[in-house]
Amino acid sequence: MSRQAKLRTGGPAALRHAGAGRPRWPDRSPSLLSWPEGSAPAHHRRVRPFLETRGADAMANAFARGAFAASQTARVGWYFSQYLFAARISPTYKVPPVQGGRVPGVGDILRDIREIFARDLRNIEAGLYRMPHDMLQRPDRMLLGARRFFDDLPRVTERRQTGEADSVPEPADSPVAMPDYYLQNFHYQSDGWLSDHSAKLYDYQVEVLFGGAADAMRRQAFVPLAEVVRERGRALKLLDVATGTGQFLTFVRQSYPRIDVTGVDLSPNYLAEAGRRLRRFGGAELLQGQAEDLPVADASRDLVTCIYLFHELPATVRTQVLREFARVLKPGGRAILVDSLQRGDRPFYDSLLERFPHAFHEPYYADYIDRSLIPPARAAGLTYRGTLPAFLSKVMVFDKPA
Ligand SMILES: C[S@@+](CC[C@H](N)C(=O)[O-])C[C@H]1O[C@@H](n2cnc3c(N)ncnc32)[C@H](O)[C@@H]1O
Repeated sequence: MSRQAKLRTGGPAALRHAGAGRPRWPDRSPSLLSWPEGSAPAHHRRVRPFLETRGADAMANAFARGAFAASQTARVGWYFSQYLFAARISPTYKVPPVQGGRVPGVGDILRDIREIFARDLRNIEAGLYRMPHDMLQRPDRMLLGARRFFDDLPRVTERRQTGEADSVPEPADSPVAMPDYYLQNFHYQSDGWLSDHSAKLYDYQVEVLFGGAADAMRRQAFVPLAEVVRERGRALKLLDVATGTGQFLTFVRQSYPRIDVTGVDLSPNYLAEAGRRLRRFGGAELLQGQAEDLPVADASRDLVTCIYLFHELPATVRTQVLREFARVLKPGGRAILVDSLQRGDRPFYDSLLERFPHAFHEPYYADYIDRSLIPPARAAGLTYRGTLPAFLSKVMVFDKPA
């Protein structure tokens, strides 16, 4: 059985590797977040902004800011109200007593959502990325998403009630081996990762879960990514591991079209959806393969990104995946992980982290929140650079020594 299946190949850009960047961030303990919440590192403010604040463009940009605020407020209103409505109509379920103290309330969550969008806009103004391409969503697509979500909700609820979450058979004709831990209904979602229906529903479900802030959290990965671009230019090769439906890659292609991107995922259905979405951004190379056995050559990538994978892996596989990141990165390359907060990162949210795996099937999450990724990353040969908090997520940065 081949360890990869190539779905589509884009032309790789020639790479000029300008050497290693100087280490900028102190190596700190995982419980200390290296950047003060709500501020991009100061050196990012020097890059040319996408939004001008002076001169003839200032009026247009004031309008752009207003449009951003209005669209993201509408977005949060749309998704968060559906989260509350879904919670209200779903039967209650048992959660073992949690130790983490008071569970944050709606007001606390909304305050932090506002903060992540404020930071999103500051990043855009600082030139780290462009205004999101999907700022204005088509109403018919939003309604279709809501319909799919609420049509599927009774099946999700039933699984949550019964605890049944292993009804995902391995596809008979898969060119890539699917590990047992993968064949589960993560989040109690129908068909696990293995159907077109699941791939169409996934991003909508995630946005409902995070009150519309999932993309804003993903985009925080651009903070350490832009630093590499500033030091070495844009002729870089980026590998997005567990790319899912390619949502993050659409933002990469939109803001950094010269970066040569590859997405890897185990799900052919999610990769097919990614291919469809990326078409309007010039496409991307998409490979079916395992994160723990990446189908790419040693020292072939300047950047590895990986969003919302690690909390879904057994601890031993997390270690293997980090080793793979070290293998495929060029010397001086950078791995950027966006994933759930871990216990103690923001103690206020600890109780929510404890509850999460009971509400949404997440068999490895309890272990994930208590096991730092820094020691296995170090053992793999990566240097920890820092952590940027992002609402319920965090961005962790590791460099491969030059
Ligand atoms: C929670 S989703 C994250 C998707 C995407 N990165 C995002 O930002 O939403 C997890 C993804 O990881 C993929 N996945 C899980 N285990 C994997 C593995 N061992 N190798 C490759 N992909 C894996 C799943 O198919 C799914 O698309």
